[in-house]
Amino acid sequence: MNFIRTILLALGAAPAARAAGGDGLQSCLNSAVTGSGSVAFPSDPLYQISDVSPYNLNIAVTPAAVAFPTSSAQVAAIVKCAADRGYHVQAKSGGHSYGNYGLGGTDGAIVVDLKNIQQFSMDNTTWHAIIGAGTLLGDVTQRLSAAGRRAMSHGTCPQVGSGGHFTIGGLGPTSRQFGAALDHIIGVEVVLANSSVVWASETEHEDVFWAIKGAASGFGIVTAFKVRTEPQPGTAVEYTYSLDIGTAEMRATLFKQWQAYMSNPDLTWKLASTLTLLEETLIITGTFFGTMEEFDKLGIDDQFPGANGSAVVIENWLGLVASWGEDAALELGGGIPSNFYAKSNSWTKETLMSDETIDKLFDYIESADKGTLVWFLLFDFQGGFTNTIPTHATSYAHRDVLFWLQSYSINLLGSVTQTQIDFLENVNTLVSTDGAPYAAYPGYVDPLMPNGPEAYWGTNLERLRQIKAEIDPNNVFRNPQSPAPASQ
Ligand SMILES: Cc1cc2nc3c(=O)[nH]c(=O)nc-3n(C[C@H](O)[C@H](O)[C@H](O)COP(=O)(O)OP(=O)(O)OC[C@H]3O[C@@H](n4cnc5c(N)ncnc54)[C@H](O)[C@@H]3O)c2cc1C
Ligand SMILES: *[C@@H]1O[C@H](CO)[C@@H](O)[C@H](O)[C@H]1NC(C)=O
Ligand SMILES: *[C@@H]1O[C@H](CO)[C@@H](O)[C@H](O)[C@H]1NC(C)=O
Ligand SMILES: *[C@@H]1O[C@H](CO)[C@@H](O)[C@H](O)[C@H]1NC(C)=O
Repeated sequence: MNFIRTILLALGAAPAARAAGGDGLQSCLNSAVTGSGSVAFPSDPLYQISDVSPYNLNIAVTPAAVAFPTSSAQVAAIVKCAADRGYHVQAKSGGHSYGNYGLGGTDGAIVVDLKNIQQFSMDNTTWHAIIGAGTLLGDVTQRLSAAGRRAMSHGTCPQVGSGGHFTIGGLGPTSRQFGAALDHIIGVEVVLANSSVVWASETEHEDVFWAIKGAASGFGIVTAFKVRTEPQPGTAVEYTYSLDIGTAEMRATLFKQWQAYMSNPDLTWKLASTLTLLEETLIITGTFFGTMEEFDKLGIDDQFPGANGSAVVIENWLGLVASWGEDAALELGGGIPSNFYAKSNSWTKETLMSDETIDKLFDYIESADKGTLVWFLLFDFQGGFTNTIPTHATSYAHRDVLFWLQSYSINLLGSVTQTQIDFLENVNTLVSTDGAPYAAYPGYVDPLMPNGPEAYWGTNLERLRQIKAEIDPNNVFRNPQSPAPASQ
């Protein structure tokens, strides 16, 4: 017992917010989740390690209970137990929120862990699939492929959950062609704050559907997605251009060449690209969805003189997705929990960085105290299909973004230090365009950001707050940065 207590203390576990049993929560949840489902409470041995298992070790969160339902009816019963007693509720799908929002984000939440909710079916006349919201992205890929060689857009880390990913955006290498993951959604089964289970789509519960496509964590618990799918892409080229040696000035030059090439409005949607900055290193990687011959015709080699270029053909979709997963693993430890802090930023075609700003960025990186060697800045090329969708079509708002920045700083030894945070803050300030609205990606939660909802949902926030006031006025579904109900 002492051993367990020591581990819990080391993980920063706080004592349970309320004494179990006093408000009937425990017995309510135990009768809500029957059969092969289960519920865990803070008094259970190894609760924090095996039931809660936070992804960001830097943010300590102790939920009041973690329930593992097996059906949407059980999810509804859990929501009722929580709402009747004034607890806040968050769904957990893959548990990969940077702010541990799948655990509620603050102590005392009821967590609905969807790992047992993994139904799958494919209609092979419409090629619409039904996917249970506890399915991880790696399994989404496999199941769609097995059901007729189909695919949809999503990010590259196989351990991320469809529940949190499809409902917040979901950007990946095919997004320039097919849209974000949420652009594939044509219907959802969702449990609302009043504990009804409804289907929402363009024609039923339209407001709920609109809110779910970009901001679901504040509006309900999706138990199943109905998605459109695409034939899986065939031959693809994986390319890399790297600068392992050289000066900050050389890296700045390559960065300018990359931004100029990728921001050409006529560039094919079949080209995906990410520029990664690490300590003393710049790497451009990406996928071209086509043959080597077509890739060569783009003439990218000529664009990046001085960099080490290489390209390989991958004939098979599952092999391609696996290679992305390996890249993601290198960058973020393959979804292994750690102490980290992350931020995001973005550019549209009107707000691209000037040469002067790029020079300042590289000068700063060269001289700054970063507090760690394990930091990286990922510049993701977006645009394409995602830029053709109107801003107000879904609650996900950032349709004009051409480049995203994701910045990370990891501490392998303990809590993230202020020096690490300052470095990412300073980079963000330096690269922001004066006067442009600050747009953060809602999928890269930044719990320290004071104006989270404005930065995540921009001009769609007001409508979200109106819908929230109608369907969840008591704010049952919430985390520290979900939209608050509009005041009546
Ligand atoms: C290693 C790594 C790689 C990543 N790569 C990418 C990438 O390539 N592209 C990209 O766009 N993003 C990427 N992300 C960000 C990722 O999309 C988000 O963190 C996402 O929200 C995680 O979803 P989850 O289900 O794993 O997390 P959770 O922590 O389980 O959930 C995150 C949030 O969504 C809510 N939620 C979960 N399920 C549901 C549901 N069924 N109904 C309603 N709300 C729900 C939770 O309550 C919580 O607020 C990456 C993250 C990590 C850690
Ligand atoms: C659709 O599925 C049925 C039943 O599994 C199968 O017999 C049929 O060949 C499939 N059709 C296509 C186009 O894959
Ligand atoms: C290119 O790769 C070679 C072999 O790994 C390395 O020695 C060289 O420094 C690299 N050059 C650049 C510009 O990165
Ligand atoms: C629950 O809320 C939804 C959305 O507002 C509504 O359509 C439904 O009728 C409500 N159900 C009950 C039982 O009140």
